[in-house]
Amino acid sequence: MRMADFALERYFARWEFTVRHLLCASDVEPYPMADLLGLADAETRSLWETLHLGYSESTGHPLLRREIASLYDTIAPDEVLTFAGAEEAIFCLLNVTLEPGDHAIVTWPGYQSLFEVARATGAEVTLHELHESDGWALDIDRLRRQLTPMTSLIVVNVPHNPTGMLPDRETFDELVTLADDAGARLLVDEVYRGLELDEADRLPAGADASGRAVSLGVMSKAYALAGLRIGWLATHDRELLARAAAFKDYTTICSSAPSEILSIVALRARNQVLARSRRIVAGNIERVDGFFEDWADRFSWVRPRAGSIGFPRLTVPGVTIDDWAADLVEAEGVLLLPASQFGHPGNHFRLGFGRTDLPEALGRLESYATRTLR
Ligand SMILES: Cc1ncc(COP(=O)(O)O)c(C=O)c1O
Repeated sequence: MRMADFALERYFARWEFTVRHLLCASDVEPYPMADLLGLADAETRSLWETLHLGYSESTGHPLLRREIASLYDTIAPDEVLTFAGAEEAIFCLLNVTLEPGDHAIVTWPGYQSLFEVARATGAEVTLHELHESDGWALDIDRLRRQLTPMTSLIVVNVPHNPTGMLPDRETFDELVTLADDAGARLLVDEVYRGLELDEADRLPAGADASGRAVSLGVMSKAYALAGLRIGWLATHDRELLARAAAFKDYTTICSSAPSEILSIVALRARNQVLARSRRIVAGNIERVDGFFEDWADRFSWVRPRAGSIGFPRLTVPGVTIDDWAADLVEAEGVLLLPASQFGHPGNHFRLGFGRTDLPEALGRLESYATRTLR
C-alpha cells in the first residue's frame, strides 16, 4: 500500500508545537486532566484508581461502548467499535469496504485520509467538490450524476472540515435516500457533531438514518480530548464491524486503557463537556465575524454553521496566502493553514476558532494585516 504524504499533518509536524498561536487548530481547547477527573462519578473514579495497565478488550471497554451507543437513537453497544482516534477508524473501515474495481465518492476539499486511503485500496475515487460560490453546499444532483454502477461507498464529512458546512435536514435526507437507492454505503464523518452553532441544526447521525450507513465519531473535537486518541465507528451493520475489528488486529489491537476510562468519564459528563466547548466556540465566532466584517474588502468569509473551523479567502490581488501566512507566522507567531495543504488551488486558508487564545491570536493577525494589507 502506497500513500501520498498527509500534507496537513506534515505541516503541523513542522509548526504545531513551536508557534505561539495555532489559529488553524480544528479541535476545541483541550480539557485539563484535573478538570476532567473532577467530573468522574464514583464508578469511574474507582475504575481510574484501580486500573491495571494491561491490554483492554479489542472492541472497546464495555462501559465505553455503552456510553458511545447512548449518543445515538438506535445503536446498541455491540454496534460500536472503538479505535485509536478517528484516523485509525478511517484506515480500517476503508480497507475493509473498498477494493480494486470499487468506486467511491468523497467530498473535497477535506480531510485527506478520507480519499487518500480510499485510493490506496485500489478503488477508483471521484471527488465531490464543494464551492465557495455555493456556500460550500453539497450538490445532491451533481452527486447523483457522479454515481456509477460500481459506486459502493459515499463519504461525506458533516459538519465539514475545513469549511464548517452543515447541510440542512432536507439535503441530508436526500443524501441518505440517494445512497440507499444506489445500493452504496454511506460513511458520515461526524467528528464535529455537537458543535452546531444553532443546536436546532443538528442532523440525525448517519448510523441512525440508514441500516448500512456508518457514523464516525471521536473524542477529539466537540469533546476537547484529542490527546485520548479514542474514536469509534457505529453502525447497524455488525458484519462490517466484525471485519473492521479483524483488520484492527493488525493496527493497534485495542485502545489505550487509561484513555478508555477517561472517555467514559467525559461521555457521562457530556452535557458539561459539550457546554464548555460550545461556550468557547460561540464566544470566538463572534470575534471572528467582527474581524471579517471589518476586513470585508480584503477577505471573503462564508460563516460556518457548525464545527470549530472555517475556510476564508484572502482576496487582495497579487497576495498569495502561502506567502502571507509564511510571513505572518514568522512575524507574529500566528499559524494559519493555507488551502494548498488541502491541495486546493484557491487563496483560502483554514481558520480555527476553538481555542481560548483566539482573542490574542486574532489581535496579532489584525495588526499584521493592518501593516501589510492596508
Ligand atoms: C474530518 C475529520 N475526520 C477525522 C479526523 C481525525 O480525527 P483524530 O485526529 O482525532 O483521529 C479529523 C481530524 O482533524 C477530521 O478533521
